[in-house]
Amino acid sequence: MATHSAPKQPNGLDFFADAIRAALATALDLEPAVLVLERPREEAHGEFAVPCFRFAKAAACSPPQLAAKLAAELHIADVCATAIGPFLNFQIDPQRLAYVVLSSALTADFASGQQGLTTIVEFSSPNIAKPMHVGHMRTTVIGAALARIFQHLGHKVIRINHIGDWGSQFGKLVAAWQRWGSEENLQADPIAELLQLYVRFHAEEAADSSLAADAKIAFQKLESGVENETRKTWRHFTELSLREFERVYARFGITFDFVRGESWYEDKLEALSQWLDECGVTELSDGATIVNLESEGIKTPCLVKTAHGTTLYATRDLAAAKSRWEEFHFDQLLYVVGAEQTLHFQQFKAVLKRCGATWQERMEHVPFGLIRLAEGKLSTRAGRVIGLSEVLDRAVELARAAVEEKNPQLPNKEAIAEMVGVGAVVFHDLKHQRQKDVVFDWDEVLSFEGDTGPYLQYSHARCCSILRKADRALTSIDSIDLTLLEGGQELFVAMGRLPQAIRETGQKREPVLLAHALLKIASAGNAYYRENRVLGTGDLALENARLLVIQALRDTLALGLGLLGVPAPEQM
Ligand code: ARG
Repeated sequence: MATHSAPKQPNGLDFFADAIRAALATALDLEPAVLVLERPREEAHGEFAVPCFRFAKAAACSPPQLAAKLAAELHIADVCATAIGPFLNFQIDPQRLAYVVLSSALTADFASGQQGLTTIVEFSSPNIAKPMHVGHMRTTVIGAALARIFQHLGHKVIRINHIGDWGSQFGKLVAAWQRWGSEENLQADPIAELLQLYVRFHAEEAADSSLAADAKIAFQKLESGVENETRKTWRHFTELSLREFERVYARFGITFDFVRGESWYEDKLEALSQWLDECGVTELSDGATIVNLESEGIKTPCLVKTAHGTTLYATRDLAAAKSRWEEFHFDQLLYVVGAEQTLHFQQFKAVLKRCGATWQERMEHVPFGLIRLAEGKLSTRAGRVIGLSEVLDRAVELARAAVEEKNPQLPNKEAIAEMVGVGAVVFHDLKHQRQKDVVFDWDEVLSFEGDTGPYLQYSHARCCSILRKADRALTSIDSIDLTLLEGGQELFVAMGRLPQAIRETGQKREPVLLAHALLKIASAGNAYYRENRVLGTGDLALENARLLVIQALRDTLALGLGLLGVPAPEQM
C-alpha cells in the first residue's frame, strides 16, 4: 500500500517546485519568488534545472563550483539535486512523483489560487447584420478559452460581448433597406438579406450620390436619441442578428455575462465628451473633435466626434472602458481583438492616459493573427464570405464520415460528430501561437493523428473505454499499491506540468501553451498504454494501479480540453 502521506495541496510538479525554491532561497539568502526553475535540456537530467551564473558572484565562486556546493548541501524531501557543469538539476523520486501527480489529477486539484482578481474578457464582438465569419472565430475561441482559464485560476471573470451595433454603417444599411429591402427575405434568412443590402449599397454608392446622403441622414436619426422609424428598423435588425449569433455560441458552448452592443453606451456618450473637454484634451480640427496623441508617441490623433456631430468607434470604446471601470473596478480588462486594430487600442488607451486615468494600465489589447483559407483573406464588402456556421457544418460533416468509418456501431453518432467537428475547429485555432496567421486546411483540422483536437479527444475516449471495460470503482489512491507501477515517468511529468501550463497560458494569454501541454500528455499516455497493458494481466493489484493511471489521465485530459473549449466525448 502507498506509504506516503497525502500532501496538503498536491498540485502536480508545483508541489516539488515550491519545495525546491524554498530550499534554494534559504541557501542563497534570496526571496523564493526570484528563483526561476527551468526545464533541463535533457529529460534524463531531471524535472527542474537552475543555472547558477546569476548567483555565483555573490557566493564568491564560479558557477560550476556553486552548483556542486549546492548539490551537496541541499536536502529536499524526495528530490535529488545534482550538478552538471554550471547547472543544478533536480530529480524527483519516481514513487513520490507518481503519488503526488496522480492524487492531484484525481482530485482535480490542478488549480492555483489567484483569488480576488476581477478579470474582464471582452471577446467575440461580431457586427450585426453581417454573418459571423471565420475571422470572428479566433476572438470567440481564444477569448472563451482565456475566460475559462482565469476562472480556473480563481479570478472573478466577467465575459462581455461588445457587439458592433452602432455606427455610420447602420445608416447605410437602413438607407439600403428603405430602397430595396424585403421583409419576407429578412424573415427567411435575416443575415443573408442584410448582407446583400450592405453589398449592394457599396456597389451602387459610387454611381448614385443620393445613397450616401440618405445614409448620413439615417445615421443622424439613429443617433438623435429620440424614437423614430429608423431606430425601430435598426432594433429589428439587431434582434434578428443576435438570434443567429446565439446559435453559433450554443455550438461552442459559450455564454456571456453581458451582451452589450456599442449602442448600450449611447447614453454615456454626452458625459464622455464633456469629460474629455474638462480634461482639456480635445481640440477642433476641420470641424471634427480630436485628441492629439503626439505626447504619447502616437502620430495619428484619435477622432472622437465627426464634423456632423456623430460619434465614432473610438468614442464608444472610450465610453465603454470608463463605464466598465466605474461598474466593475477590474484588475484586468482584456480585449481579444485582431491585430489589425492595434492602433485603435493604442489610441484610445492613450486618450485615457492623457485624461489622467491610471486604470487604463489595466486594459490590454490581446491581438491575434489572421485566418486564411486557400482563397486568401476574406472580405464582407466584396461579398466573398465564409460564415462561421458553414465552417462548423463542414467540420461536422467530415467528422461524421470519420466516425462512421471508424466506429459504425456507435450510439449517438450525430452528437459525437458535432463534438468532434466543433472540437477539431476549436483546437486547430488554439494550437497556434496567438499572433501568427493561421492557415485553415481541412485535412489537417480533422485528422485523427498528429497535433489535432480529434487526436486528443480520441485519447480521452480511449481511457474512458478502458475504464468502462474494467467496470470497477477505484475508491481511493491510498488503497492502491503504486509501487507496482513501473515506467510512466514521462506521463507523470507531463501531467504534473499541467498546473504550470495553465498558469502560463493565463499570464501570457497564450492558449497554445495549454494545447501543447495536452498534446504531450496524450502522446505520453498513448505510449504508456502501449507499453503497459492495463486489463487482462491476471494480476488484480497491478491492474488497479494501472487503471488508476488511466483514470488520472482521463481526468487530466478532460480538464485541459474543457478549459480550451474542446468537448470530450466518452466514445468516438
Ligand atoms: N465589432 C468589431 C469587429 O468586428 C470588434 C470590436 C472589438 N472590441 C472593441 N472594444 N473595440 O471588428
